[in-house]
Amino acid sequence: MKTYLVTGGAGFIGSNFVYYLLKKYQDIQVVNVDKLTYAGNLENLKGLENDSRHIFVQADICDDQAIAKLFQQYEIDYVVNFAAESHVDRSILNPEIFVETNVQGTVNLLKHAKAAWTIGDDVYKAGVKFLQVSTDEVYGSLGEEGYFMETTPLCPHSPYSASKASADLFVQAFADTYRFPVNITRCSNNYGPYQFPEKLIPLIFNNTVHHKESPVYGDGLNVRDWLYVEDHCKGIDAVINKGRLGEVYNIGGHNERTNIFIVKTIIAYVKEHIDAAVGEHMITYVTDRKGHDRRYGIDPTKITDELGWYPETKFEDGIKKTLKWYSEHQEWIDHITSGKYQEYYKLMYEGR
Ligand code: NAD
Ligand code: DAU
Repeated sequence: MKTYLVTGGAGFIGSNFVYYLLKKYQDIQVVNVDKLTYAGNLENLKGLENDSRHIFVQADICDDQAIAKLFQQYEIDYVVNFAAESHVDRSILNPEIFVETNVQGTVNLLKHAKAAWTIGDDVYKAGVKFLQVSTDEVYGSLGEEGYFMETTPLCPHSPYSASKASADLFVQAFADTYRFPVNITRCSNNYGPYQFPEKLIPLIFNNTVHHKESPVYGDGLNVRDWLYVEDHCKGIDAVINKGRLGEVYNIGGHNERTNIFIVKTIIAYVKEHIDAAVGEHMITYVTDRKGHDRRYGIDPTKITDELGWYPETKFEDGIKKTLKWYSEHQEWIDHITSGKYQEYYKLMYEGR
């Protein structure tokens, strides 16, 4: 029986990944470690309450003793590190916590995984792996042409992407220095259920159903490469099982869209399915994000050729499924956007 240590498994992608794993594999155990920051929510894991294969532990990945204890308590085979501060706008407001969680937290996990898995000098227990969930943002921004490849130099611009790039360098350093068994995945923008409504798609959905303005940064022509979250989970699973040790794999599905296209798509969905009174008059162009990366676009050739991964969900289907899910989970949105989120929203958007 394999044991996965999944960090950040109460967040958006982490919770989707835990569901994915437990559905796909019967004979596994998932130790899910999450600090439960504003972005982590136990409601995301409600469907697993009666599944004894899922063990939830509230802890900070930076906590030396808590992480040491987990490796003593469980025979971990795989670490899948999702835990992070993940929102670019928050990193612009407050960079320090991004260094703590994303860099120091990753190094703490690497240190304890290495200690637990070592059986000789730079020799490790068979079959173990540390998978770092990274992002395409570490590559910086593209012009109108070209794609991010695994060989593209790292050129992060925001405090968030700088912290993720730093973490990647530490993961790579453990591989190079100690021959530690790692993989890094770098995925493009995810969308799907359980995404915190500070991010573009759930934020615009929630604003539209509440007849609030849809804030579009700058000219709305920045481009993101959107991938349905389950396809990301499948990519990570493929890399855990078949990825060559020490390698980086980009994950993305050639699905580039401008932000304004995404916003109009959401408004059109709400108009058709929920409330005929909404419309594009709700779009408001606001001051651009500082250092706003213009375009992201992933070249997924390596993961497709080596591991047979490809994106299975077409954007047209995935976005409908996603918006339907949000429309059926308004209580979930209301719950996680109450309290402190309102302060953040005011700070970010009022008078912008
Ligand atoms: P999220 O913000 O929804 O979830 C992050 C989770 O990590 C939360 O549950 C939070 O409580 C937890 N966490 C934060 N700090 C912690 C700490 N110190 N210790 C333990 N847990 C902590 O993020 P997400 O969008 O699900 O992203 C997950 C990972 O995937 C991140 O590493 C992110 O960089 C990466 N990623 C995200 C995307 C995307 O489009 N969302 C794309 C590519 C890569
Ligand atoms: O590319 C992968 C990255 O995608 C992940 O590493 C990050 O964790 C994730 O948050 C996401 O980053 P982005 O900055 O691309 O996502 P966000 O949803 O914040 O913004 C998407 C685009 O929409 C971006 O160009 C900014 C714009 N935007 C965003 C918000 C919240 C708006 O125009 N208005 C908004 O209100």
